[in-house]
Amino acid sequence: MSREEKLAKLSQKRDKVLGGGGPKRIEKQHQAGKLTARERIDKLLDKGSFVELDQFVVHRGVEFGMQDVEAPGEGVVTGYGTIDGRLVYLFSQDFTVLGGSLGEMHAAKICKVMDLALKMGAPFIGINDSGGARIQEGIDALNGYGEIFKRNTLASGVIPQISVIMGPCAGGAVYSPALTDFIFMTDKTSQMFITGPQVIKAVTGEEVSSEDLGGALTHNRVSGNAHFFAVDEEDCFHQIKRLLSYIPSNNLDPVPVVKTNDPAERMDEILKTVVPDDANKAYDMMDVITALADNRDFFEIQPHFAKNIIIGFMRLNGISVGVIANQPKVMAGCLDINCSDKASRFIRFCDAFGIPLLTIVDTPGYLPGVGQEHGGIIRHGAKLLYAYSEATVPKIQLITRKAYGGAYLAMCAKSLGADTSIAWPSAEIAVMGAQGAANIVFRKEIANAENPNEKRQEKIAEYEEKFSNPYCAAARGFADLVIEPEKTRYFLIKSLESLLTKRESRPGKKHGNIPV
Ligand code: HXC
Repeated sequence: MSREEKLAKLSQKRDKVLGGGGPKRIEKQHQAGKLTARERIDKLLDKGSFVELDQFVVHRGVEFGMQDVEAPGEGVVTGYGTIDGRLVYLFSQDFTVLGGSLGEMHAAKICKVMDLALKMGAPFIGINDSGGARIQEGIDALNGYGEIFKRNTLASGVIPQISVIMGPCAGGAVYSPALTDFIFMTDKTSQMFITGPQVIKAVTGEEVSSEDLGGALTHNRVSGNAHFFAVDEEDCFHQIKRLLSYIPSNNLDPVPVVKTNDPAERMDEILKTVVPDDANKAYDMMDVITALADNRDFFEIQPHFAKNIIIGFMRLNGISVGVIANQPKVMAGCLDINCSDKASRFIRFCDAFGIPLLTIVDTPGYLPGVGQEHGGIIRHGAKLLYAYSEATVPKIQLITRKAYGGAYLAMCAKSLGADTSIAWPSAEIAVMGAQGAANIVFRKEIANAENPNEKRQEKIAEYEEKFSNPYCAAARGFADLVIEPEKTRYFLIKSLESLLTKRESRPGKKHGNIPV
């Protein structure tokens, strides 16, 4: 074969792979409102940065006529490239080739880039659009999933792992995304479920559409499995890039710092009045968060799930910070099962990747109720205590108003290792609210009083005067600073910058055992 013929062969083979499942199937993909695997990579990565690996991998299936079936690229495009100049490894399943189904060699391609990402300390991104295990390959396909799950687990806490669901992701296939740090889903074009609508109907008789069962809205709002909801693929890529800008490429790299023109000493008038005089009145914690953040920019995670707690990233004087904040506007900011899960996992992500934590507290306590108790609020709530106690990154606590009882501890109290605790004059740091406390401590006195109601109010006022303030905690050193609210950004930045050299170690062990 001449040199020209050899080059022509390469070109021909490559064209075959680049053509995926062919024009008809590509057209069908577009009609479904989805980009192809390659178009997605083009949109996500920096222009011209993608290097594709394993283009010519082929399957080894022989059952059910597979020996005659060609699967260009094995139904998945893999390789590396850059996002905003930073190296990432990724795979993108090609639904036009055998429905993006995962067989032995498809899995091997994914495992190879996972191994490279781990060795190189680069984020790993998986774009999922697949009919699941390639049925014709049986146990070999299953084994492939197992290899991926194991790698997801080993890479956890070493490199950030991001799953992007842009089509079907069903059966055991959902567990790779579930093992990763963040799941993005696109509206109306992505679904995740263990068993689909037909199986559910056959087994339980329930009728449900695949969108209601496992669409983007469902997993962002109801189950909490997904972290980001995207209106379309374009929106999704934009959000992925934004997320990456806040996080380091691996657990040993420093936290990203960007230049900011927002002065550290900027005071925000809204902070003076944001907490209402009436302690029973709600306010929007988002107003506090945005007033504190560089350029008022806050990147919220899981905004549609367990809204009684807010999590996300901001920058303080250019430094990435993970924020966990009670939301008094929703369930008065009580802690419940879902919000404990949501916040704990985020705390552990930040700690694994060296991202400092800012915890903003206004919570009256754990949510009372039979449903919560029977649902396991004891073990779920314990996750917050565990995650904060375990975290060795800089930890700053800011108390705007209520900080009662166990919930006060669970929101990164000094005793759990907060390096700095800052309180506003409106802070109420106490074992419980004045009403409940007065009813218990002065029950007899109130019952025996000539006018029990009057007595109750008197005792509540007495308790409030004594304990519902920041000064009892400050008197014991549990609050390091009591400050005017408008000065908060300045003190947060001062504190954060002083904590950047923090060194703290934990007892050596194989691993801890967080309540799950
Ligand atoms: C092999 C598959 C496939 C699969 C789809 N295809 N899923 N081939 N194995 N798992 C093929 C189809 O035969 C078809 O081939 C092409 O992909 C497109 O599929 P369509 O059905 O035409 O597309 P659509 O109508 O959009 O439906 C998509 C779908 C449906 C909802 C995903 O294909 C489907 O239900 N697939 C099976 C899902 C499933 O049960 N998977 C196995 C789960 S078990 P042609 O040649 O016609 O284009 C599992 C276990 C994992 O995943 C366990 C891990 C621990």
